[in-house]
Amino acid sequence: MSGYRLAVMGNPIRHSKSPIIHKMFAKELNLFVSYERILVPDDGFERTVTSFIKNQGYGFNVTQPCKNKAWEIVDECSEEAQAARAVNTVLIKENGSLRGENTDGVGLIRDLERNLGCTLYKKNILVVGAGGAVSGVLKKLIEKQPFSVSIYNRTVKKADLLASRYPDLVKSVPREELRDDYDLVINGTSIGIGSGQVALPEKILKNAEISYDMFYSDEPTPFQSWSRLHYDIEAYDGLGMLVEQASEAFALWFGKKPDTQSVINQIRNTADPRRV
Ligand code: ATR
Repeated sequence: MSGYRLAVMGNPIRHSKSPIIHKMFAKELNLFVSYERILVPDDGFERTVTSFIKNQGYGFNVTQPCKNKAWEIVDECSEEAQAARAVNTVLIKENGSLRGENTDGVGLIRDLERNLGCTLYKKNILVVGAGGAVSGVLKKLIEKQPFSVSIYNRTVKKADLLASRYPDLVKSVPREELRDDYDLVINGTSIGIGSGQVALPEKILKNAEISYDMFYSDEPTPFQSWSRLHYDIEAYDGLGMLVEQASEAFALWFGKKPDTQSVINQIRNTADPRRV
């Protein structure tokens, strides 16, 4: 195989859009890359990584449930990855050592600010969820100096634990203390996917300009549909974040930043035509 060998590793991995996105970037920047999906068996992450490196791997992305494991095995990592305790992009250095990065936070911020025109400064932000997805973006959200960042999670203890990493900056809120004055509500859970219902109090959206689902699928996500059903607000999915975090990863590997807007548009247009 010639060119740069890249991959995304996770489980499940079949639906990952990363290969499509990175191939579009490579085409734009005239780089020859191969980018594959690698299914990681249970307890097999390290083995998968070793084999990839041995077989001319140049760099790779990591998705759930392996982001925390990736953070554990890299030799060094960025401040973002350290804060998140999760790695979504790995650089393989010439001496074979691994550097872990986390581009999820910057991906979210770019999509919100640049693509959607949303200001975070002095805003009240509610983040739903306390898993790996949320942990990956909190540092970057806080850096934008919002008025407040609250996190709500079905399992309150997990939200408490995550908030305790950012004393005075992030507050864990139990369900009964959820308010109706958030400017922005971000979903970082797989809530409503499959046969489940979105069981959140509607009032959290009452004053929101935007609801944002970090999740993406070709159909509108359950959280998006739920948001639109209850209030006339802009409800976005996480496609922009996905492309932005990928663009940042690509730049870390190759030192060149691809255009994201055309990729977002192309993927949108080839998905469900009913989407706007
Ligand atoms: P990820 O790394 O993708 O964030 P995770 O670490 O398993 O995955 O976290 C999943 C998040 O989605 C958690 O916040 C989980 O809530 P719990 O901690 O209470 O399990 C949340 N979640 C998943 N399904 C949910 C549902 N049906 N209702 C509410 N929260 C849900």
